[in-house]
Amino acid sequence: MGAIVLNQHNDKHRDKMDKIDQEFTKESLRDHLKFLSIGEKELNELRAMGNILIPYMPEILERFYAVVARVPEISHLFTGRDHISRIKDAQMRHWSKIIKGDFGEQYVQSVKAIGRANARIGLQPRWYIAGYSLLLSSLIEVVVKHFVPQKKKLVFSE
Ligand code: HEM
Repeated sequence: MGAIVLNQHNDKHRDKMDKIDQEFTKESLRDHLKFLSIGEKELNELRAMGNILIPYMPEILERFYAVVARVPEISHLFTGRDHISRIKDAQMRHWSKIIKGDFGEQYVQSVKAIGRANARIGLQPRWYIAGYSLLLSSLIEVVVKHFVPQKKKLVFSE
């Protein structure tokens, strides 16, 4: 009985993974970039910022996993420091591609691997999206610090 339930679970899981693989192609990526108004000009701007942003990534990822570690609902997904360190390296490679505006075949493969890994462990989309927002807010903080003139105060900080 247990084996049947497990097989059904594995079949469902495989179907989900196949769907991820089929839906995410270079063509669908092109549609997403268009949706986000990211063209050659924006990619070049991103590449120009890359040298500034990349050195911040280890610290940003450190902060990310420190926050995750404080949330019992998701912290149990990590088996230990080695596990976290391996995922951090994979995240580092992934974000380096994004920051370099390198959205080729390797990026597509990387996104599929992330989808598979995070679905395999049953990470709920709400946590994935929250995690993504957390990483992005750290990156935006660096962009503001380095690229936005600091002359004006925000209205609500007065
Ligand atoms: C709170 C949100 C998240 C949690 C708790 C989480 C957790 C995990 C865990 C436990 C794994 C390892 C799975 C395994 O051992 O097979 C993993 C893999 C991974 N995750 Fe997440 N994740 C989160 C969000 C994200 C986000 C936003 C990204 C950004 C792109 C990301 C990128 C990755 C990468 C690159 C891997 C490694 C994939 C591979 O094996 O190649 N994760 N994640």
